[in-house]
Amino acid sequence: MEPLLLPPIPDYHRIDVYEAHGGYAMLRKALGMNPAEITSEVKASNLRGRGGACFPTGLKWSFMPRESAKPKYLCVNGDESEPGTFKDRQIFEFNPHQLIEGTIIACYAMGITAAYLYVRGEYKRWIDMMHAAVDEAYAHGYIGKNILGSPFSTEFTVHRGAGAYICGEESSLMNSLEGERGYPRVKPPFPAQNGLWGCPTTINNVETLANVPVILRLGAAAYGKIGTARHPGPLLVGVSGHVNTPGVFELPTGVPLLDIITKYAGGVRGNKRIKAVIPGGSSTMILRGTALDGVCMDAESLKTAGSSVGTAGMIVMDEDTDLLKVIWRITKFYHHESCGQCTPCREGTGWMEKILKRFVDGDAAQSDIDLLLDVANNIEGNTICALGDAAAWPVQSMIKTFREEFERRVPSPTAAATGT
Ligand SMILES: Cc1cc2nc3c(=O)[nH]c(=O)nc-3n(C[C@H](O)[C@H](O)[C@H](O)COP(=O)(O)O)c2cc1C
Repeated sequence: MEPLLLPPIPDYHRIDVYEAHGGYAMLRKALGMNPAEITSEVKASNLRGRGGACFPTGLKWSFMPRESAKPKYLCVNGDESEPGTFKDRQIFEFNPHQLIEGTIIACYAMGITAAYLYVRGEYKRWIDMMHAAVDEAYAHGYIGKNILGSPFSTEFTVHRGAGAYICGEESSLMNSLEGERGYPRVKPPFPAQNGLWGCPTTINNVETLANVPVILRLGAAAYGKIGTARHPGPLLVGVSGHVNTPGVFELPTGVPLLDIITKYAGGVRGNKRIKAVIPGGSSTMILRGTALDGVCMDAESLKTAGSSVGTAGMIVMDEDTDLLKVIWRITKFYHHESCGQCTPCREGTGWMEKILKRFVDGDAAQSDIDLLLDVANNIEGNTICALGDAAAWPVQSMIKTFREEFERRVPSPTAAATGT
């Protein structure tokens, strides 16, 4: 597959280079189309969101009211704070104009007059690059009043987050943009009815929007043939952990995980065996290294394997990895990032971290395994947003898949009774 999101063209981040390779031609084309036609094309392409939940993008766009007395908004989610996920920053750095072009096309399709790009606070370098790209796009008439001489106008603002994972959750992101504390909102009402400043709003991930010009260029039918039919398109797969060449690889959906590790990420360091893989960012369920045969990087295959594609941020762990340390460290992250609004998440993440530390220190009892599972089960599904689930799933899956690792770290019942 020719690279469609990260073409290896020198200086592609510059507007003149982007234009010289056909950049912004799809915006021009879109402005000559009926807005509803664009949403239909995106629907027909089967593009699914790249922000973690794989929600069908065209369907999401169709929830926006066509007529609205209030302004409508688009939030572009570039908060990218989940451990294992580092792909949107490649777009900021190497292809910012495709993101801008996709965003303006989305605004036109939904009748939106302002887009806000919310970028992770620590991404200073990429925020500066996005500011530069947006300024160039304004200067060339691709953003602002009467875009390319059409009656359509829309604004684009780059907003720097303050370094909170929770602000990537769409309703916290909107509260944060409004200047409020980044607390998730109860749904319903959903953002398409009552979003930013109480107005109809759509939230899409950076990579999702960068796919939009590709869909218009290739046509929905051809786009839908890239990768797997139910989750098609180019996918930015990030690989980190114990591999020889970690990085972000643009691949069609549906590539076997083992091929990603061996062919793209250079294989496992020191030719060691794979003990475990977290396929889509730290919130996705862990898979056993021996159970990877036939498992592919797409929504359906990973669901069948008992996990999910998430943000396609794979973490590869070799045979020497202390998985209890891994799950303790992941849980420490979720405890730190819990906003504290919901009791099960605020208290439960702390308790999970404490219990896991007992395992890491060799101070856990056999009963701690079920206690840990009980705490995780009481978080899952009992919180306003999915951060609670994101904290519970890795713990539940680690116990389910690697229970023996926990059992090995507690004194056996006889040893405990005799004090040996
Ligand atoms: C705690 C939490 C953090 C999230 N962080 C991000 C993020 O950094 N970037 C992102 O695009 N989506 C993130 N999401 C998912 C968003 O809420 C939302 O589903 C997504 O931006 C929608 O875009 P898409 O439909 O294009 O995938 C997060 C969700 C949760 C619960």
